[in-house]
Amino acid sequence: MDMIESPFLKACRREAASFTPIWLMRQAGRYMPEYRAVRSRMSFLELCRDSDAAAEVTVTAAERLGVDAAIIFADILLVVEPLGIRLEFSQNDGPVLHNPIRTPADVAQIPEVDAAAEVGYVYESIRKANAALKVPLIGFSGAPFTLASYVIEGGSSKNYIHTKSLMYQEPDAWHALMRVLTRTVVAYLNRQIDAGAHAVQLFDSWVGCLSPFDYEQYVQPHMRELIHAITPGIPVIHFGTGTNGLLELQRAAGGDVIGLDWRIDLAQGWQRIGHDVAVQGNLDPVTLFGTRENLRRQTKNILDAAAGRPGHIFNLGHGILPGTPVDNVLALIDMVHEMSASSSRGS
Ligand code: CP3
Repeated sequence: MDMIESPFLKACRREAASFTPIWLMRQAGRYMPEYRAVRSRMSFLELCRDSDAAAEVTVTAAERLGVDAAIIFADILLVVEPLGIRLEFSQNDGPVLHNPIRTPADVAQIPEVDAAAEVGYVYESIRKANAALKVPLIGFSGAPFTLASYVIEGGSSKNYIHTKSLMYQEPDAWHALMRVLTRTVVAYLNRQIDAGAHAVQLFDSWVGCLSPFDYEQYVQPHMRELIHAITPGIPVIHFGTGTNGLLELQRAAGGDVIGLDWRIDLAQGWQRIGHDVAVQGNLDPVTLFGTRENLRRQTKNILDAAAGRPGHIFNLGHGILPGTPVDNVLALIDMVHEMSASSSRGS
């Protein structure tokens, strides 16, 4: 199906659409009974590697919700496994990477493999999902900094002490690791595009832990190179959280759409990065646990801040949380569609 005129891809290109498109990060996840039913039959990693099941989960979430884009079901950590990382998802602690990379010797020992070539199941999932989807499909990858934080810390982190220690103590090894990850992510995203992804999102979820100075020094050059190497004509969504101090630098690194989280007013964030780029965001995911009335007020605030300007993709500022009431998610999607279609946007 030709997706080029879909509201989501129009918004990526900052073209006027008849309503504001919406999709939700982690829209296929544990808050959804259909997802939990599939997960009761297989582990998370089994699900990621089973392209029929991953495609099914992708399509079911998009159809059940009536969102304007799907995102392929996978995980940002899958592509680091072929780099020699032993990956596990524990029930309560999230991802565990058993042999973290912490020293220049560790970096030097990373095998010279084309890691993106080793995760063919992701491209299979994309092909299978696309065959059933009526909306565009987003491919994604972790951004190099966020991936580096996982392979260095060995899991999630609060203070990123190992990550920043490598950065500060061994800058050459840091940059060497970032080059390996950048090369890997470029190949990974371009293969997803070859398989049929209509847009790609870079999750730099934890980059907000950096000062602007450190971002500029240790991350931005790699992001710039990465984004410029993505297949031309395919929109790139550049996402992070806690990035209030980094927005201009992220925007300068590149991307057609910049992610904004709820800690910044959308109108202010958009003003700062310029209206010549699209934005995605920025509802607090926890709003979905509150009253319907509050949800409506907060949603209207965001649509008012976007002011009907072409190039706004409605989303949460970060992923949907487990335990989120599905009814509220459905209500949000209706609200965005109804309120944006009826607002005075003069189109
Ligand atoms: O958005 C979608 O619906 C697509 C699927 C998707 C998943 N992970 C599935 C998943 C996407 C886009 C991701 C990206 C991802 N993975 C990120 C970036 C997004 C973000 O939240 O900032 C990160 C940091 C990861 C790493 C990761 N994967 C963590 C920290 C965890 C554990 C936390 C948790 O929610 O359990 C995961 C596991 C994970 N990835 C789950 C899902 C649905 C839950 C696993 C389960 O079913 O038990």
